[in-house]
Amino acid sequence: MRKLTYYVGTTIDGFIAGPDGQFDFLPIEPDVQATMNAELPETVPTQFRPAVGLTDAPNLRFDTVLMGRGSYEPALREGISSPYAHLRQYVFSRTLNNSDPEVEIVSADPVSFVRQLRQQDGADIWLCGGGNLASQLRTEIDEMIIKRYPVVIGAGIPLFDGPFDPTRFAVTGTRVFDSGAAVTTYTRT
Ligand SMILES: NC(=O)c1ccc[n+]([C@@H]2O[C@H](COP(=O)([O-])OP(=O)(O)OC[C@H]3O[C@@H](n4cnc5c(N)ncnc54)[C@H](OP(=O)(O)O)[C@@H]3O)[C@@H](O)[C@H]2O)c1
Repeated sequence: MRKLTYYVGTTIDGFIAGPDGQFDFLPIEPDVQATMNAELPETVPTQFRPAVGLTDAPNLRFDTVLMGRGSYEPALREGISSPYAHLRQYVFSRTLNNSDPEVEIVSADPVSFVRQLRQQDGADIWLCGGGNLASQLRTEIDEMIIKRYPVVIGAGIPLFDGPFDPTRFAVTGTRVFDSGAAVTTYTRT
C-alpha cells in the first residue's frame, strides 16, 4: 500500500511558517540538506535541483506530491507553476484555476482523494503541506518525517491547523545534526 508521508520543516514550537507565510527563519543547514537531498532528492524543487547536483536524480521514495493552495502559492508568486515537475502534482483548492498542465487542481474531499490514490499503483505519496491540508488528512497520514530546527517563533502557521484530536505516533528514527536540527520519523501506531 502506498504510504502517505508528511515531510516538513518546523520550529521547536511547531510552526511551519510565520504568520504571514515567512520561512526565512528556518535555517538551511548544510548537514541536514545534504542528508535529506541524498535520501529524498524528489523533495527538492525542480528549479533548485541543478544547483545541488540533482538534475537527473531518480525519485527514490515518492512519485506524487500533495499541496494545499497555501503551500503552492509561494512558488506561483515567483512565476513557478510546476514546482515539482518530476512528481505527479496535486494542489487542493476551491478557488484556483488550473495554472499548469503538469499540476492538477483538486477540489474533492482530501481523505477520499487519498484513498483513491492508494488504490492506484505507484510509489509513496508526499504530503508537502501545509497545516490546513495536513489537519484534514491526519487520519490518513502513515508517517511523518519532521525536520525540527532550533528556533522558537511564537506565532505562525502550525504543523497541523485544525481541531483538538490527539493521535499517537511511534518514533521510528531520529537523528540530531551538528547544526542542532533534528530529523525524526514518526509512524502511526
Ligand atoms: N516548513 C515547511 O516545510 C513547509 C512546507 C509546506 C508549506 N509550508 C508553508 O505553509 C504555509 C501554507 O500552509 P496553510 O496551512 O496556510 O495552507 P495549505 O494547507 O497549504 O493550503 C490551504 C488551502 O488549501 C485548500 N484546501 C484546503 N482544504 C481543502 C479541501 N477540502 N478541498 C479543496 N481545497 C482545500 C484551500 O484553498 P482555497 O482557499 O483556494 O480553496 C485552503 O485555503 C505556507 O506559508 C507555506 O510556505 C511550509
